[in-house]
Amino acid sequence: MYRIGVIPGDGTGPEVIREGLKVLRAVAEKVGFEFETINYDLGGERYLKTGETLPNQILEEMKKLDSIYLGAIGHPNVKPGILEREILLKIRFKLDQYINLRPVKLYPGVDCPLKDKKPEDIDFVVVRENTEGLYVGVGGFLKKGTPDEIAIQESVNTRRGVERCIRFAFDYCRRRNKKKKLTLCGKTNVLTYAHDLWERTFNEVAKEYPDIETDYAHVDAICMWMVKNPERFDVIVTDNMFGDIITDLGAIIQGGMGIAAGANINPDGTSMFEPIGGSAPKYTGKNVINPLAAISAAQMMLEFLGEAEAAKQIESAIIKITSEKLKSLQAGEMGYSTSEVGDMIVNYIKEQALS
Ligand code: IPM
Ligand code: MG
Repeated sequence: MYRIGVIPGDGTGPEVIREGLKVLRAVAEKVGFEFETINYDLGGERYLKTGETLPNQILEEMKKLDSIYLGAIGHPNVKPGILEREILLKIRFKLDQYINLRPVKLYPGVDCPLKDKKPEDIDFVVVRENTEGLYVGVGGFLKKGTPDEIAIQESVNTRRGVERCIRFAFDYCRRRNKKKKLTLCGKTNVLTYAHDLWERTFNEVAKEYPDIETDYAHVDAICMWMVKNPERFDVIVTDNMFGDIITDLGAIIQGGMGIAAGANINPDGTSMFEPIGGSAPKYTGKNVINPLAAISAAQMMLEFLGEAEAAKQIESAIIKITSEKLKSLQAGEMGYSTSEVGDMIVNYIKEQALS
């Protein structure tokens, strides 16, 4: 019996999580596992009503869960940064979810903005460090509000933090067993301290993985290659900030935020799974948002819980829908409502053979 914490969150979060849970229930029944959900009402509404973001007691409870399933965090009436830092980043940091795993996979039938690129060309995974770098919040102001103002925001990179991320990436690349190629994405020509540590650690750890081909590219070049030759990538490992940026680019080449999912992983603790798009206030409550990203996040959650068959069931249903049904992955242009997409996935899962 898995205990899954659910944070529907803000905006369209609750709508997509509802579909994701529907799919989880269907697949659980089909392959035969059980789960219970513990609902956490966190996000902008709670903050506006009570001033609370993430109470410590909830954080402690979360450490005992098997996983967390998150919709979206972000509210138009709350100043940017508060909810992100106090809820989303706090969970990532305090639960030590040191990997942010973001697959970039173009499914058949999905419109790709890259000319002539096919599903076989776009299939890689970004391993983003998730607890360090520019995200730690080390820094401050001097002479704030004056013409002499100074703002400093430090990137923190520890040997331990960098090494565990790189090791995860090598292991993941080996387990994935595709091109068996790991690309380090950095900026060693400018970040001559931080990314020197990354490069040295990468090269040392690489010696333990002779079966994995290694590759290095600067982040700006990575952006270019992701557009020009995405087929050169298998697994990319990078720091927190660069990982944030390149995974939005990744999302758009796989069809957009409607399909992009990510996993915040602590291999020895509680991991959290989320669609990587935001709370989409303009689509909220309209039953038009694409739930496939949240459904993919549920698939990733099952993979990490060890429910491989259930995860496969979800992915093949998604491929069915993208290749045979949806007109577009964009909100409001799918040709179906949010709940109809969820229902179609559920029906395919019921009909499909077990592998
Ligand atoms: C993401 C988001 C977050 C991040 C924001 C909402 C803090 O962009 O998950 O990629 O920067 O990590
Ligand atoms: Mg981002």
